Amino acid sequence: MIIRPRRLRKTASIRAMTSETRLSPSMLVYPVFIREGKNIIEDIPAMPGQKRYSPDKLPVILERAVRNKIGAVLFFGIPDHKDECGSSAYDDNGVIQQAIRTAKREFPELTIIADVCMCEYTSHGHCGILHGKDVDNDATLQYLARIAVSQARAGADIVAPSDMMDGHTAAIREALDINGMTDTAIMSYAVKYASAFYGPFREAAGSAPSFGDRKSYQMNPRNLREAIREAELDISEGADMIIVKPGLPYLDVLRAVKECVNVPVASYSVSGEYSMMKAAASMGWLNEKNIACESAVSIARAGADIIITYFALELAEYMLNGEL
Ligand code: PBG
Ligand code: ZN
Repeated sequence: MIIRPRRLRKTASIRAMTSETRLSPSMLVYPVFIREGKNIIEDIPAMPGQKRYSPDKLPVILERAVRNKIGAVLFFGIPDHKDECGSSAYDDNGVIQQAIRTAKREFPELTIIADVCMCEYTSHGHCGILHGKDVDNDATLQYLARIAVSQARAGADIVAPSDMMDGHTAAIREALDINGMTDTAIMSYAVKYASAFYGPFREAAGSAPSFGDRKSYQMNPRNLREAIREAELDISEGADMIIVKPGLPYLDVLRAVKECVNVPVASYSVSGEYSMMKAAASMGWLNEKNIACESAVSIARAGADIIITYFALELAEYMLNGEL
């Protein structure tokens, strides 16, 4: 035998030198749930280890994000007041706007991404304005634009629309530009599937739809070519980066999208992926650290430039220690 692949697997040092996939904390994004109130840090039962913070308590977790040198944090707001049109989402004194201002004041160097959607803010839990039982695409666009402008005004570096309305990126870009926020970037959830893996998030954010599902706006899990179409559409409308979501179950989609576009591509390893790993680990069936690392490596290998994950803080720590 002349060729023996095992030669390059012999020592940790040789394996490290010949690695095709390398990760760094700067590629990680950590999602943070912020609820209204004061002096609150509360557990999220379906997502062990994740918490909801009131804006004043945010520095506790952001300090760790900064210390671990992660790329950005992604904010989700959970308001007290919900109504038909999600008005708390574009309130300049809303919970996410307060959170953004606090974060920017305490940690000016930390990149803040704000999730733009309506489901946490609407009384019906859908991601847009209802017309009867349907989500009215075009009526929703002006609200999304208003939300994004309000978040950018509060100091968000990047806005991330997760609503899956057609034309959302164009509507947001136009509104940001008219309001002088030409440097606010858009990281669009261009390829977001109607997935059962969002369950724990909906508990965390109180954003489950009160009737029906999101299949008329989020993508059909059976479709791949449509993902390319969605990605190209959002990029043509001005998306600076795009997200493919969920993560692990959609690596084929991630790879296909990555090969077709020339903007940074993020993969969102969603709440259900996190909770499955936590649950199996808590039973002693899988090693949490090893599966979290292997999942991140797999997502990066499939083509992600950016990984949005609830394990971001731990993963960054492993990277800084030279363990990942
Ligand atoms: C809101 C939103 C959701 C997620 C991100 N933004 C939930 C949904 O669409 O129902 C899911 C994130 C996760 O599961 O971790 N539109
Ligand atoms: Zn939504």
